[in-house]
Amino acid sequence: MKKTILTGLRPTGNLHLGHYFGAGKTWREIQDDYDFYLEIADVQALTDNFDNPEKVRHNVYEITKDLLAIGLDPERVHFFIQSKIPQIAELTVFYSNLVTVARLQRNPTVKTEIAQKKEIFGNEGESITYGFLGYPVSQAADITCFEGEVVPVGDDQLPLLEQCREIVRKFNSVYGETLIEPEHLLSKTPRIKGLDGNDKMGKSLGNAIYLVDDEKTITEKIMGAVTDPSKIKKDDPANPDICMVYYYHKLVNQEDNNERICRECKEGSRGCVQCKRELIEAMKSFLQPIQEKRKYYEEHPEEVDRILEKGTQEAEQKAVETLKKVKQAMKIDY
Ligand code: TRP
Repeated sequence: MKKTILTGLRPTGNLHLGHYFGAGKTWREIQDDYDFYLEIADVQALTDNFDNPEKVRHNVYEITKDLLAIGLDPERVHFFIQSKIPQIAELTVFYSNLVTVARLQRNPTVKTEIAQKKEIFGNEGESITYGFLGYPVSQAADITCFEGEVVPVGDDQLPLLEQCREIVRKFNSVYGETLIEPEHLLSKTPRIKGLDGNDKMGKSLGNAIYLVDDEKTITEKIMGAVTDPSKIKKDDPANPDICMVYYYHKLVNQEDNNERICRECKEGSRGCVQCKRELIEAMKSFLQPIQEKRKYYEEHPEEVDRILEKGTQEAEQKAVETLKKVKQAMKIDY
């Protein structure tokens, strides 16, 4: 029997290359090997965006189309919308007794996010909602509701998974062996650098190439990418290892091209403008099949609805079974 995998995404924006190389590509590669639940985490997105429901709703469909475009197969993967599975919310309430407020405040992921919020909104402890502080509990419910055995994540999510395991152990020790303790599957490429050389490509950093970017946008972004600052003239030799253009060539261009690009850059026989033009072409070829596939779903929104509906029904079946076991264990199976 295949193991169950569960992962989730917050629908707050389109997928970019960081999501693709850090996660989506691996998901596509392993989709045959697991029973795969893929949660569009709209409830979790609302913890940060409760006052912007249109944004979350819009991005549920955007992100689903992006995921289908990269080749996740709706026949194999259960695509589902978190808010359509009320059992997750029930579990969240039950688990909230099994975790202390202090433990949540110490969660490194939560701590980092609170620090980021303080930077944006000022030193307002009060701006942290109960829902936000508790989202790791809700994420533990996401995973255990489907008896997720394996959770593919980036390293920023490890503390959330550890929190989930603690909740599972606590539940099982209080109410008897019921829940499965999930293991993580760490991404091989945890992080993709941004066009500006930042260690992380991110929406809020404004340094990302999106899977939906058109030619004009790609051209503007790549033309502005950071290169070796010591290279002033076109024929100065330079160091490709500190150049973002070369970094992206390695991700999207053919391997034999890259050897040549590296050599010419070091020799000084390749100007940055030419190199960027070649990257624009390579990027277009890389994105073309993804965008073509996406176009199909843009033109057939009813198919996207059908996929989400089917996946959500499959997820619901599993959730009902889990809740039955959980309520029995907790003696609330009236
Ligand atoms: N917290 C994850 C993120 O911000 C999204 C997510 C929601 C998730 N539920 C999950 C990831 C369950 C793994 C498992 O990207």
